[in-house]
Amino acid sequence: MKNDFLKYQAQTSPYPLGLEISHASGSYIYDTNGKTYLDFVAGVSAVSVGHSNPKVLQAIKEQIDKYLHVMVYGEYAQGPAVELTRLLAANLPDPLEQTYLVNSGTEAIDGAIKLARRATGRTQIIAAKNAYHGNTFGALSLMDFEERVAPFRPVIGDISHIGFNNFEDLTSITEQTAGVVLETIQGGAGFIQPQNGWLNAVRERCNEVGALLILDEIQPGFGRTGKLFGFENYDVIPDVVVMGKGMGGGMPIGAFTASRNHMQLLSDNPKMGHITTFGGHPVIAAAALATLTQILESSLMNEALKKEQLFRKLLKHKLITEIRGKGLMLAAIVNTGAVANDAILTAQNEGLILFWLLFEEKAIRITPPLTISNEEIEKGCLILLKVLDKIATN
Ligand SMILES: Cc1ncc(COP(=O)(O)O)c(C=O)c1O
Repeated sequence: MKNDFLKYQAQTSPYPLGLEISHASGSYIYDTNGKTYLDFVAGVSAVSVGHSNPKVLQAIKEQIDKYLHVMVYGEYAQGPAVELTRLLAANLPDPLEQTYLVNSGTEAIDGAIKLARRATGRTQIIAAKNAYHGNTFGALSLMDFEERVAPFRPVIGDISHIGFNNFEDLTSITEQTAGVVLETIQGGAGFIQPQNGWLNAVRERCNEVGALLILDEIQPGFGRTGKLFGFENYDVIPDVVVMGKGMGGGMPIGAFTASRNHMQLLSDNPKMGHITTFGGHPVIAAAALATLTQILESSLMNEALKKEQLFRKLLKHKLITEIRGKGLMLAAIVNTGAVANDAILTAQNEGLILFWLLFEEKAIRITPPLTISNEEIEKGCLILLKVLDKIATN
């Protein structure tokens, strides 16, 4: 299978991990050689309630027996999408009421950028340095890494960057600014949290100049940081919240939520200002509804904070300089990028899935399913510590 994978499937890098997958359940992935892997990555923060979660599978099966795709997004009232958006509204602060369902995180970011421009009649979008918001043209345009953007120019125009947690830079948010797009907790940059009331200051500045604050919750959202959305940790309410990844419980989805007043601008003048064929797909929405219900009705969010403490207690090693992040969005920062790389690859051989962060080469990603047990955390940490021991003695 791996040969055909490399031959026929377009690749994202010259060095794919290339595990041949047989099946997955709970916190474990099984390869076609019968080897078991404990998963500390969760499909990069996506498998929020564990692999093949029984309630998610049940919701999918029930919906499959009723209907699949029947019409493009927004024309027909379909139970799973209606219920999902209603439940989101019930659990989001005012004025976040209407949700537009799309197929991926990056698509939701693009929709949010369009909404900010449409709502303000302005063009400038401000994003943070070291941010990652996705790879379609809108989201890619927000990136400040010239070597990643340059080969694809021209990207969308009128984008400026500010330093995350930089108070002085807030003066660049002005009456020209349509929207400020920020990850609530920066992911690819190294799991950087907003500090000293910075996010509140951004909110205030956006209010002063009439710009929309768009928070990208694609990674921290859906319980990963101990709250349904990361912004609840910092006492800030955005104008637009963007979600994806863990929302689908392992199925592909994205969404952005705003006030009814803002959101209705996308349906008028021009009519169909944002459209999608498969957004709100009934099977995907059913999976997302089962995921959200489970996160809300269980103790998974509270447990995420206790599990964070367990990781912090266990992951003590001379090669680990710091544990960053919040809840189950954690990164072990080691002394060099080479050590992180070696640890990630060696751990996979030892049956533990770890992964990189996009821009912080010293980071080892730890974003397991929220359903991971304490015993599984202990087991995985032991593997990682032994791997680091081996690296330290080489
Ligand atoms: C913070 C953040 N925003 C946006 C995206 C893009 O989401 P997707 O890969 O579903 O397009 C990601 C994915 O890694 C992300 O972590």
